[in-house]
Amino acid sequence: MNEVVLRCQQLGKQFNDVGSALTIFEDIDLTLYQGETLAIIGESGSGKSTLLHLLAGLEQPSSGEVFHGEMSLGSLSEAQRSELRNRQFGFVYQFHHLLAEFSALENVAMPLLIRGESKGSALRAAAEVLALVGLQDRGQHRPAQLSGGERQRAAIARALVTRPKVILADEPTGNLDERTAEATWQVLETANQQLGVSLLIVTHARSLAARLQRLYKIEQGKLIEVNS
Ligand SMILES: Nc1ncnc2c1ncn2[C@@H]1O[C@H](COP(=O)(O)OP(=O)(O)O)[C@@H](O)[C@H]1O
Ligand SMILES: [Mg+2]
Repeated sequence: MNEVVLRCQQLGKQFNDVGSALTIFEDIDLTLYQGETLAIIGESGSGKSTLLHLLAGLEQPSSGEVFHGEMSLGSLSEAQRSELRNRQFGFVYQFHHLLAEFSALENVAMPLLIRGESKGSALRAAAEVLALVGLQDRGQHRPAQLSGGERQRAAIARALVTRPKVILADEPTGNLDERTAEATWQVLETANQQLGVSLLIVTHARSLAARLQRLYKIEQGKLIEVNS
């Protein structure tokens, strides 16, 4: 069996409103193995983004635990969590979250610069992944000078530049027309096939979800495996 890259156990999240607690989901168990692709679908408001944020350690669970490899996120300090995220994880948001004042190349190099790599080697690594996503001619463009699909591919390149084990993507094609969404999916698929990166993608596009190996849905606060 392949290595476990990401796992959660009895994971739950509540938000505390004035006087009452709102349970988004509870008792979620999920294991993602090296090289796997997994989709989570669910209606808007069902908790998909919240679950992804917990798995990435961007938010704290109300109950249960998240493991990256053997490491329990709850046992780490904020600084250690953020270092682990930088090393092991790429995160792709629905809206690209690229920095407007930097070029595509600089945006992609950013996680390596944050980690303390030299500018020269960070930019070289960034150029390599930009080529992998088909943006070798767009390195000097700023986000505003790129199309929606190109921005999303640059965001994927930024997630890949650290050579993560897993990419977590929150509705990565949610804003794109069908053709652009297909091209974006192909970039993620290439990353999976050529680099062995596991993919955990949250989406409400059934057509995208059907392309992944395992399919789950969040419904009424539970995560259920769907036989596709
Ligand atoms: N910080 C927060 N405080 C209170 N409620 C929140 C917060 N973040 C999300 N929620 C609620 O949690 C539910 C799930 O949200 P979300 O995870 O964004 O759903 P999805 O991504 O599936 O659309 C929604 O009802 C949302 O209003
Ligand atoms: Mg969402």
